[in-house]
Amino acid sequence: MAEQIRVRVPAKVNLALRVGRPDNEGYHALGTIFQAVSLLDDVTVEATEAGVFELQITGRGENELPTDDRNLAIKAAKLLAERHQVTTGVKIKIHKRIPVAGGMAGGSADAAGVLLACSVLWDLDTSPDDLVNLAAELGSDVPFAVLGGVAIGTGRGDRLVPILTRGTLHWVFATSGIGLSTPEVFNKFDELGKAGSIELPEALLAALATGDVKSVARQLSNDLQSAAVNLRPELSEVLVAGRTMGALGAVVSGSGPTCAFLVASEADGLKVADGLGALPQVEETIRAFGPVPGAHLTN
Ligand code: C5P
Repeated sequence: MAEQIRVRVPAKVNLALRVGRPDNEGYHALGTIFQAVSLLDDVTVEATEAGVFELQITGRGENELPTDDRNLAIKAAKLLAERHQVTTGVKIKIHKRIPVAGGMAGGSADAAGVLLACSVLWDLDTSPDDLVNLAAELGSDVPFAVLGGVAIGTGRGDRLVPILTRGTLHWVFATSGIGLSTPEVFNKFDELGKAGSIELPEALLAALATGDVKSVARQLSNDLQSAAVNLRPELSEVLVAGRTMGALGAVVSGSGPTCAFLVASEADGLKVADGLGALPQVEETIRAFGPVPGAHLTN
């Protein structure tokens, strides 16, 4: 059997997401704190004949996602091949656990996984910095999926500075049956005239540094939340319900519609996940913790 390279890659949640004005290409200036969480997609690659770039998806979204050039995973493989004059083709298999169009950077994670897996498969001399730079060409959230951990993101969200934090955060994520398109949420944000300062809250950074979970929970914030709630009013009911059930803090994840609940312990996570899972607005609940590393080899 052909050699297979296996990579795991995490979803992200934004602990703070500040959004400013769009630039002339329509991209908004961001100030954000990303945390990588233990909700992982598996990416496996193996060599195949020259010129063939094949993608198979199992798990979430297996019947809805394109597997051709429209998929960021294929774009990632082609970009890396082109930059390094690689002539062999690649078969990519992705097992998805990260919600599709859920505000957790699932598509970006897969692209990051493909960059790492193919660079090993093709024995390329790529440094982590090379991969992060290529990642930024593919999308604003792809560099963070390469890096993982906790990081401050500026620019389009692609300029990263890792930060050290203390302790582990326990999360419950509540998914929605129908995803939200990121451009649609940013357009609604513009329409609502919500652009403001992109400065990150100092108190949140201090709470992360000391591992003060309650203080982190109080300061979770997302400037895109009102746009996501405007498009999906039921999200505000889900956020309120999670707090009532014992979550310390609740926020829409990225551009939504997944809602993220910070809980005090795994036991509280079970309780909150059970309660949220019974709501008609919630498709599924997922428990996870963070931070975890970015894209990494598993074989
Ligand atoms: O960078 P990426 O392709 O993932 O972005 C998807 C969409 O999200 C962009 O086309 C844009 O509409 C929106 N976006 C934005 N400002 C950012 C990042 C993304 O408006 N900083």
